[in-house]
Amino acid sequence: MHSLVRLFEEQQESMEKILSKFGATGVSGISKVWRMKHVPREDGRWQWRSKGTCEGKAQAKFDKLNEELVECKWKIRREALKRYEELPQAQQGDFQSAWHRHTTSMDPYGLLVNTIRDQYDAEMCSHAWVKMFHISTAYPELISPSNVAVEGTSNSRQLSSLHVCEAPGGFIAALNHLLKTRHKDVTWSWRANTLRSEEEEQDPIAKKVARGEDADLIDHTQEHWDFGADGTGNVLNKDNVRLIRERTLSTLGRVNLVTADGSIDCSTRPEAQEQEVLGLIYSEIVLALGVLARGGGFVIKLFTFYKPETHCLLLLLCSCFAEVSLVKPPASKQGNSEVYAVCRGFRGLQQGQEEDEDQLQELMEGVCPSPFPPDKLLLPPSCFPAEWMEDVVYRASEMFSALQMAVVSSNVKVWDCGGCYGLDAFKDYRLYNRRRTRLADALCKRMFSRQDQRLVKRDRLLGKRSERSEEEATTQQLLGLPIKFGSSKVRRRT
Ligand SMILES: C[S@@+](CC[C@H](N)C(=O)[O-])C[C@H]1O[C@@H](n2cnc3c(N)ncnc32)[C@H](O)[C@@H]1O
Repeated sequence: MHSLVRLFEEQQESMEKILSKFGATGVSGISKVWRMKHVPREDGRWQWRSKGTCEGKAQAKFDKLNEELVECKWKIRREALKRYEELPQAQQGDFQSAWHRHTTSMDPYGLLVNTIRDQYDAEMCSHAWVKMFHISTAYPELISPSNVAVEGTSNSRQLSSLHVCEAPGGFIAALNHLLKTRHKDVTWSWRANTLRSEEEEQDPIAKKVARGEDADLIDHTQEHWDFGADGTGNVLNKDNVRLIRERTLSTLGRVNLVTADGSIDCSTRPEAQEQEVLGLIYSEIVLALGVLARGGGFVIKLFTFYKPETHCLLLLLCSCFAEVSLVKPPASKQGNSEVYAVCRGFRGLQQGQEEDEDQLQELMEGVCPSPFPPDKLLLPPSCFPAEWMEDVVYRASEMFSALQMAVVSSNVKVWDCGGCYGLDAFKDYRLYNRRRTRLADALCKRMFSRQDQRLVKRDRLLGKRSERSEEEATTQQLLGLPIKFGSSKVRRRT
C-alpha cells in the first residue's frame, strides 16, 4: 500500500525546489509570484504591424515550452484514461468527473473555501472569492483609495471599481467583505459586466445569467450591471466596450480598480487555450486602460504566455503600470495554467491626456470577436526589448510551466498508485486530509487577522446568510469530510 501523505509531500517538495531555483519571492502566503521588471514608458504610439517583422529569436524557445506542456497534459490524460479503462466494470463511471474529483482532492488548498466560509461566514464564498480576497490583502494598495493621485475622486475615502467578466460575482463579494469588515470608513461604488447569452454552448455561467438561474447577486444589484449596447455584455463586441466605458466614466468617473476574470473552457483542447483567450484579454485590457485613473490598479486573469501576441500585451501592461507581478494564489487550482497579473500604479498610455485618448481610440479598433487580429501584432513605438523577453517573460514561462507539470505529473502518479479508486482507498487518507486541513487553517491565519469580524447582515450584498450548494455538499462527502452545516444550509436545486 502506498502512502498518500508521502506522495503529497513529494509534490510539495518538488514545487518548493522549482520556486527556489527561479528565486520566486512570495507575498502573504502566495508563494507563486513573479515580479515583472519595470519597462520605461515611451512617447510615441503602439501600432499594429505585420507579424513577421518582429518575431525574435526567443520565439522558438517559447514554442518548445508550449509543446512540452501540452504534451505533458495530453500524456497525463491518456495514461489516466488507460488506467481507468482497465478497472473492473463495476468501478467504472464517467472518467471526466472521476478525474475532476481526483484533481480536486489532490489540490493542497482544496479545503480553503470551506474553511473560510465556516470560520468567517463569508458571503458567496467560492474559489474566485478567496483568490480576490487574498490578492487584495497581499497588495493592499489595490483597494486603498489613496492609490489615485489626482483624477476622479476628490474625497480620498472613496473607492470606485469596475469588474469585467464577473458573474457570478465572487470578486465583488470578496471586496465587499474586506471593505465592510476592515475599511468601514471607505465609501465604495462599483459597476460590473458579464456575458449574458443562451447561445454559449461552453459557458454555463453565461447561460445561467441569461436564464436568471443562480444569479442572486445580479438580481439584487441590477443597476450596477452593464450588458453593453446589444444586451449580451460580450466584451468581444467593440460597441459594448465603448458603451461600458462611457457609462462607467459618466457614473463613477475614472476608477481606482479594475478586475477582469474572463475565461473560456478549453479543458478538452489545452493546445488552443492561449489563442482562444487572446481576444478576451485584449478587450479587458483596453477597457481597463480606458477607465482607470492614474495611480489605479488592475487585476487580470491570464493563462500561458508563449505567443508573441501575449508578449505584446504583457509589455503593454508593464509600460502602463509602475509595477506588475504575475501571481498564482493558492486558491487557484494548482494544475491549471491560470495566473493573475496584478498591476499597480497606472501611469497612462501616453504622457498627456489628449494623446492618451487618441491611442485608446486606436486600441478600441482592435477589439473583435475571435480569432484575435490574424497576422498582426500590437507593437511598441521602438523595438521589442530582447533582454526583457529573455530575463523576464521566458523565465516566468519556464517557472509556471515547471510548477504546473510537477502538479499534473504528481496527480497521475497518485492516480496510478490507487487514486483511480478514489483517494479513500489509501490507508492514510484521514491523515492526508488532516494535513490539508492544517494547510488551509495556516493560510487562513495569514489572510485574516484576529481582529477580523464576521460580516454583519446589513453589510451583506444579498442580505442573507451563505448557503452551501448541493454540489459543494456532495464534493465534501466525496472527500470524506463531515458536512458542517452551522450557519450554512444545503440549497436544493429545483
Ligand atoms: C471565471 S468566471 C468569473 C468569476 C467571477 N470573477 C467571480 O468571482 O465569481 C468568468 C466569467 O467571464 C464571462 N465571460 C466569458 N467570456 C466573456 C465575454 N466575451 N464577455 C463578457 N464576459 C465573458 C463568463 O461568462 C464568466 O461569467
